[in-house]
Amino acid sequence: MGSLRRRICCRGITPRRILALGQGSCLSLHEIVMEVMFPFPQAGLSGGAIAGISIAGVVLLIVAIYLYIHFQRRKKLKKASLLPSPPEASMYKPGVVTSPADGSSPFAGVTVDKSVEFSYVELAGATDDFSLAYKIGGGGFGVVYYAELRGEKAAIKKMDMQATNEFLAELKVLTNVHHLNLVRLIGYCTEVSLFLVYEFIENGNLSEHLRGLGRDPLPWAMRVQIALDSARGLEYVHEHTVPVYIHRDIKSANILIDKNYRAKVADFGLAKLTEVGASLQTRLVGTFGYMPPEYAQYGEISPKVDVYAFGVVLYELISAKDAIVKTGGSVTESKGLIALFEEAFSKPDPKEALKNLVDPRLGQDYPIDSVLAMAWLGKSCTQEIPQQRPTMRQIVVSLMTLSSATEDWDIGSFYDNQALASLMSGR
Ligand SMILES: Nc1ncnc2c1ncn2[C@@H]1O[C@H](COP(=O)(O)OP(=O)(O)O)[C@@H](O)[C@H]1O
Ligand SMILES: [Mg+2]
Repeated sequence: MGSLRRRICCRGITPRRILALGQGSCLSLHEIVMEVMFPFPQAGLSGGAIAGISIAGVVLLIVAIYLYIHFQRRKKLKKASLLPSPPEASMYKPGVVTSPADGSSPFAGVTVDKSVEFSYVELAGATDDFSLAYKIGGGGFGVVYYAELRGEKAAIKKMDMQATNEFLAELKVLTNVHHLNLVRLIGYCTEVSLFLVYEFIENGNLSEHLRGLGRDPLPWAMRVQIALDSARGLEYVHEHTVPVYIHRDIKSANILIDKNYRAKVADFGLAKLTEVGASLQTRLVGTFGYMPPEYAQYGEISPKVDVYAFGVVLYELISAKDAIVKTGGSVTESKGLIALFEEAFSKPDPKEALKNLVDPRLGQDYPIDSVLAMAWLGKSCTQEIPQQRPTMRQIVVSLMTLSSATEDWDIGSFYDNQALASLMSGR
């Protein structure tokens, strides 16, 4: 009877068998282990053989558990090394960026095969030891110097070791993503400090053109073109790359103007890669005046964060005002540019109210309907609810229409175009 029972028990594990085990059938622990490991008939095996097999089984199980834990730990280490916390300066050695992804280097896993690695000596030599005379810019994460390197005009961003995350983010995006409307990365250096080397963009940033001294006012058609160029750059990273990226710091200071007054999006230090259409939570970074409510309040991030900031840039192009406008003498007396435009939209005659917001340096040299169309586009980009904002692709289409209408601006026929009017208002 006993041997018959054992034979039945050893015929594989069926749901019913598991149920029976759970209900306290008379199998011992040893038998259960045997059943799990050898779910086939055991008839004919001696007691010694069974004991030997079970010891081997237990040893095998222990080895499997050890290997599993070991590989899990390695996986974790690798992941952490992609975006590490700022390590000691002494860890940085020339050429570490290309070192194998073995988890020992803070730059492991970064593909930089399309970029040139420069030596510190070469960069310092081209900038007179990073002297102020070569400084052309500086923002949140570094100082930017002009240089001539290997016969090419270049801009070198010098970042300190604390900015490892930003350095890696920018290196990753710009080595993998190439577009006419994105600044081109030439190379990098990780000796002494962290350096990114870009193509030199002759005409500085958009903010300088709108508000800087010594610059001629940008004609209206050029402003439309700049809006379209930057929208195209952003559309590219939002929709056509794998993975897709969210820039997270779109503003006029991060849009560069080349010698032909075409625009390129720069400064990918805060860029975040994400799934297409995904929305996730993250720590708050970026610039005040450009942050949408869902991001400022809940850290919720999606490509619509960039769309909102882009809407503010459109308002800047129209008004040449800062994203935060001073309304009085003290710091507390200031207003967001969005609020200023919203006020104008809510007036009984928005067209007249908006005219008062147009950059005075344009004089009368602008087609008011084109300005109005851009203002409406800015309004739809800065909707409170992210889902109500257009995508960068829709924005590009709107601006293409606006651009072709502005090239030969015929004010009379411009706003009669109903299709354009509805595109601009996001309908
Ligand atoms: N490739 C470039 N060519 C010319 N000027 C540049 C270039 N890159 C940056 N700059 C100047 O340096 C400024 C800061 O650069 P950015 O990349 O935005 O650095 P940060 O992270 O410090 O804000 C820009 O606003 C621009 O004026
Ligand atoms: Mg910047």
